[in-house]
Amino acid sequence: MSRKPIIAGNWKMNLLQSEAKALFEGISSYLSNYTAVQLPTVVIAPVFTSINQVHSIACNCGCGGNKLSVAGQNCHWESSGAYTGEISVEMLKDAGCEYVIIGHSERRQYFSETDEMINKKAKAILAGGLIPIICCGETLEQREAGSTDVHIASQIRAALSGISSEDVAKSVIAYEPIWAIGTGKTCDSAEANRVIKMIRSVVSEVAGASAADSIRILYGGSVKPSTIEEQMSQSDIDGALVGGASLKADSFNEIIANTMKVSV
Ligand code: PGA
Repeated sequence: MSRKPIIAGNWKMNLLQSEAKALFEGISSYLSNYTAVQLPTVVIAPVFTSINQVHSIACNCGCGGNKLSVAGQNCHWESSGAYTGEISVEMLKDAGCEYVIIGHSERRQYFSETDEMINKKAKAILAGGLIPIICCGETLEQREAGSTDVHIASQIRAALSGISSEDVAKSVIAYEPIWAIGTGKTCDSAEANRVIKMIRSVVSEVAGASAADSIRILYGGSVKPSTIEEQMSQSDIDGALVGGASLKADSFNEIIANTMKVSV
């Protein structure tokens, strides 16, 4: 089956509202040159305070509201209550989000997120009608010790535990080797493809062949305009989760342009 590619920009903790607006306008005006069919699915994950603004530009930019989707960078699994500093799936949906990034290595590392928490978040996101972008990835030490595949497979099994095949099929996974994030060191495309194929086989084991065929699995970690064509030429890489290069309209738009050269 052909899977529509996704190019997702993770803005992390960057950009004030005015800056987010300017960057988003730079992206949406570029996208207005194309039809939704020509483009990959484009997703932007701004900080919470800019979601609403970014969403309203997406709806009014003349692109018909169907070329740009907004994502939260995190959520809580409970729907409301005494969880100071957290945000629920319903709140993200209310602000215009269609996707939520979960399990990013920065959340696992700095905020002690566990596989169990990520599984609860994935279930809450799917129950709320949004799509989780579930991140996984190994450290340099794990790679050097030869435990990449075991580690990633266990992250994926835990994240997808108890989720129906139908829900797994609509989910998105992002394979992001931690040593490649923000370092400028991109994982070799063939190796990223090998790990992504391995992830797809784990998905097949836990949710069946049809879900494994449908789920979109992205690569993330120092993706740049100069790397995306080779990455998108691989059999199993369905798109990219882009950090640094999504913070400038020129580089993000070029990543989208180069994606369209290879596959959409
Ligand atoms: P990077 O970040 O593209 O800056 O490496 C990717 C990510 O953390 O999602």
